[in-house]
Amino acid sequence: MCGIVGYVGSKQATGVLLEGLKRLEYRGYDSAGVCVCDGDELTMAKCPGRIANLEERIKRIGCVGGTIGIAHTRWATHGAPNEVNAHPHADCNERIALVHNGIIENYATLKTFLTEKGHTFLSDTDTEVLVHLIEEFLANGHNGTGCPTLEEAVQAALHEVSGTYGLAVLSAEEPQKLIVARRGSPLILGVGKDEYVVASDASAILEHTANVVYLNDNEMAVVGRDGMRTMTIDNVPVTKEVSQIEWSLEQIAKGGYEHFMLKEIMEQPESSAQAIGGRLDMREMQVVLGGFAQHMRDMRKIRKLYVVGCGTAWHAGLVGEYLFEDLAKIPTEVEYASEFRYRNPIIEDNSAVIAISQSGETADTLAAIREACEKGAMALGIVNAVGSTIARETDAGVYLHAGPEIGVASTKAFTSQVIVETLIALMLGRGRYMSQTSMSHYITELAAIPEKMKAVLEQSGKIKDIAERCCNRENWLFLGRGYQYPIALEGALKLKEISYIHAEGLPAAEMKHGPIALITDGMPVVFIATRMGTYDKVVGNIEEVRARKGYTITIATEADTEIETYSDEVIYVPDCPVPLAPLLTVIPLQLLAYHAAVARGCNVDKPRNLAKSVTVE
Ligand code: G6P
Repeated sequence: MCGIVGYVGSKQATGVLLEGLKRLEYRGYDSAGVCVCDGDELTMAKCPGRIANLEERIKRIGCVGGTIGIAHTRWATHGAPNEVNAHPHADCNERIALVHNGIIENYATLKTFLTEKGHTFLSDTDTEVLVHLIEEFLANGHNGTGCPTLEEAVQAALHEVSGTYGLAVLSAEEPQKLIVARRGSPLILGVGKDEYVVASDASAILEHTANVVYLNDNEMAVVGRDGMRTMTIDNVPVTKEVSQIEWSLEQIAKGGYEHFMLKEIMEQPESSAQAIGGRLDMREMQVVLGGFAQHMRDMRKIRKLYVVGCGTAWHAGLVGEYLFEDLAKIPTEVEYASEFRYRNPIIEDNSAVIAISQSGETADTLAAIREACEKGAMALGIVNAVGSTIARETDAGVYLHAGPEIGVASTKAFTSQVIVETLIALMLGRGRYMSQTSMSHYITELAAIPEKMKAVLEQSGKIKDIAERCCNRENWLFLGRGYQYPIALEGALKLKEISYIHAEGLPAAEMKHGPIALITDGMPVVFIATRMGTYDKVVGNIEEVRARKGYTITIATEADTEIETYSDEVIYVPDCPVPLAPLLTVIPLQLLAYHAAVARGCNVDKPRNLAKSVTVE
């Protein structure tokens, strides 16, 4: 959600900033801008649309020179996506420029105050108050005295705002440094050789250095060519550790695929093997989760689990509910993180809250975890981005190790999230009720999943044909039961978000209580009818749809040829134990959505109105 890049060094900043923005474009892509300082002159370029448009604009303007600068790619919250609302924003004299992620909640009050003081606002954004506030503090200060430096003015301004921010500020009056700060929106400082790259996401830094410093909330940094200083926004110096980014440049490239989404779907055998890797002791037939090792005594006492997440991560949580209750016999509640926080949940002793998040930065999920911690629950994380805020704020956790996920529609992170939940459920289950025989069975079957995924992916061509046949239908249903109900939800979400087809996911048995009224001649209805206890009942539902002339597409277990007599289309997945089947059945649905979106000419990796990481509430 919005991306920030900043550069100080000896290279021409514009090139570095534009490259960084391209890497961050998946965070937001409705408008973009850069501001570079040359000598004591600021040059600004911004425009609506993609980074490519901004690049064009810069070419037309001619050289935007300078070795220090800031840039931004926007996902609009306040104000339409147009040139005026694009970042950077400048003060009245155009001597200070600022880029911001997050939301300034008291911006309206501040805007009134600043307007009365004579400041002129150009945009409809909340962000613009920040830069005018800094200008005001430099000129007048609290008592009309004025802050002597940009650093102090930024600190003074940040004390006046409520809300969230990740920001970078550049001033023509102090052109040798960038001031950056964070509260609630990620900000990472890349420490290169005689240069610094600041960004809201490691992918914009990796090209320059793998050495990074993660700013915590309420911390800021003054970054210059000769080094950087870190402190709290109250000006207390803080010493920060330099960490290493684990991802490689190759991992954040498309690798010959047309879209990141397709690459990430196809990567699932490897990403799943990575999630499992080293965590199954095949000799002792045990699960070993290093991230939990020091907390095992407390974890054995867990009597209730809450799982929180948003979007696809919430769907992974729903699969987790079945896994934790089925394999570990722990009562589990799954909640949208955004609801959990505000409904004042009753958290009893010996409860743990598991936050699931690919990015580790989703604002609602972070807030839910904080709420749970406040109420005394143990906070556990299932996160992909190493060093992200959720990973750092949870008591213990397990990383996905799925590699970077760039496509806005989450795919490989989902399967890895479900794998990690399976590992946790097995580990907790074995410590309670599960026999070693069952444990050995599940471990053997889980280890075989990556190979079985390959067999599903090989059917991409067939799934493409089905998608092309049905992609002009504007309404679809996805139906499944038990473990496959969350997969029906996920299949519908994937189709909605990238192809803009209206789709609904439902427990199959609910169809007769309303949605069956929607079924018309040729309407695609996707069933997940793998071998499980309720198989016969789902077959009954398929017949009901066919009787009403719906077009049925069924995901079934290999060798179930009988299903072909009931369903118009059948996509087979290899057989596996029921709790592991979601790992296979979700893949055809990801491919169905992908191919439908391509056939409809949609921008798969950057669907309209969506952002990869939502760092505002
Ligand atoms: C956004 C993305 C979704 C993602 C959700 C949660 O809405 O578009 O694909 O599932 O955020 O993200 P997280 O990083 O917390 O898993």
